[in-house]
Amino acid sequence: PFTVTLERTGTTLTVPADTTTLAAVRAALPDTPYSCEQGFCGTCRHRVLAGEVDHRDTLLTDDERADSMLLCVSRAKEDHLVLDL
Ligand code: FES
Repeated sequence: PFTVTLERTGTTLTVPADTTTLAAVRAALPDTPYSCEQGFCGTCRHRVLAGEVDHRDTLLTDDERADSMLLCVSRAKEDHLVLDL
């Protein structure tokens, strides 16, 4: 598990090992957009303000990975992420 802080929303949530980051974020923000849920459409891309991301998508370039992630497949490399949400 790891935690995600939604900076603009002002909340922190836990992402269990069997739950996607997207599902955890949508529990707090049900309007968060998504489509493929497999890391290739880019709909769920969001900006990362802090924390190391374990990128598991097949879409983003290295430049894009430097400050964003796809919520449906990617997770935290360590124990915490801060998202611009
Ligand atoms: Fe398509 Fe995440 S929903 S990349």
